[in-house]
Amino acid sequence: MQTADRLTKIPPYLFMELRKKIARARADGVDVISLAIGDPVEPTPDSIIDELCRTARDPENHRYPTDEEKGMFAFREEVARWYRTRYGVTLDPVTEVLGLIGSKEGCHHFVMARINPGDVVLMTDPGYPAYRASILMGGGIPYNVPIRPENAYLPVFEEIPAKIVKKARGLFLNYPNNPTGACATRAFFDRLVAFAKENDIAVCYDNPYSEVVFDGQERLSFLSAGGAKEVGVELNSLSKPYNMTGWRIGMAVGNPELVAAISKVKENTDSGIFNAVQFAGIRALRGETGNIDKMLAIYARRREKVLATLAGVGIDFNPPKGTFYLWVPTPRGMGSLEFTNFLFEKAAVVVAAGTAYGQYGEGFIRISLTVSDARLEEALARIEKAF
Ligand SMILES: Cc1ncc(COP(=O)(O)O)c(C=O)c1O
Repeated sequence: MQTADRLTKIPPYLFMELRKKIARARADGVDVISLAIGDPVEPTPDSIIDELCRTARDPENHRYPTDEEKGMFAFREEVARWYRTRYGVTLDPVTEVLGLIGSKEGCHHFVMARINPGDVVLMTDPGYPAYRASILMGGGIPYNVPIRPENAYLPVFEEIPAKIVKKARGLFLNYPNNPTGACATRAFFDRLVAFAKENDIAVCYDNPYSEVVFDGQERLSFLSAGGAKEVGVELNSLSKPYNMTGWRIGMAVGNPELVAAISKVKENTDSGIFNAVQFAGIRALRGETGNIDKMLAIYARRREKVLATLAGVGIDFNPPKGTFYLWVPTPRGMGSLEFTNFLFEKAAVVVAAGTAYGQYGEGFIRISLTVSDARLEEALARIEKAF
């Protein structure tokens, strides 16, 4: 069967490749530990599951979701309340909030809603691979904006060639950043809004790690910056703060025209989120802040353990303060892939090569802290031995 040309432009999805590699090794009897994927092993809190079960028994919820493409009004109200209490951002639940099947879906729909074939879309390098795929599927042209350690992994807009800026219609950003862990600052938000306004570039600020910060780092929404709502939307998600990656529920918030345009795309693509999942989402947003604190304490402890082990084998660095990933420099001038293979061959530990996130990821690997303590300790013991 001949499939669409657009798919041939999309590089293989990193995690699918990794899953295959892990499955092959496991089939050969190797006890592989994967530190490559960011997917919490701890369960979704009971109160959220109970709410799903309760509302799933109501036949009213077996029908097409309420308010279909936009998300249930009660869910959108709860999102607005969450944004007000967590980030001091005021949102109109009618025009500025939209339910999503996770923030990943929002990345794709942002492109469909804003980008015409041939438009340039800026994205960071390293960056979350789904941005490139979404841009390409929408007929856009991705342009990589390097983010470097010497600039705290924030893009320097002045470095982007003027002819690229002129053609750019969109920009993907994500802080706390996957993969580097870097966090944005309020001063950076002001620069971002000014750059977007001056060049008529729509910002897609992908913020699913907004709650995953350490060492006193402030939790931030891009929409807290003056003028942000004029230039873009923020995507967020219940996946990471509430251990709900499998539930597929998130939100797009911000610029009303973009929210309406994304809603129109959804109206013609899916029929919204199962009502019972939305009720469970309301429960999470309203009552499970405690889970966030609990998870942050767990990740902080694991972070310290990984950093101590790495320092012990000569990889000593000062990590940025966001996400449950560590962006680790490779030792002894090893390339990213070389170090990834070394850990796989010598320790049966899988990590993500930095180059999977772009050419500026060379010289790094990414370690995820979302495995159990026991598996992490075993992985660290093996890494120590491998050195
Ligand atoms: C930067 C970034 N954006 C979006 C997502 C997707 O999150 P969701 O589960 O909300 O679709 C991830 C997941 O790992 C991510 O790292």
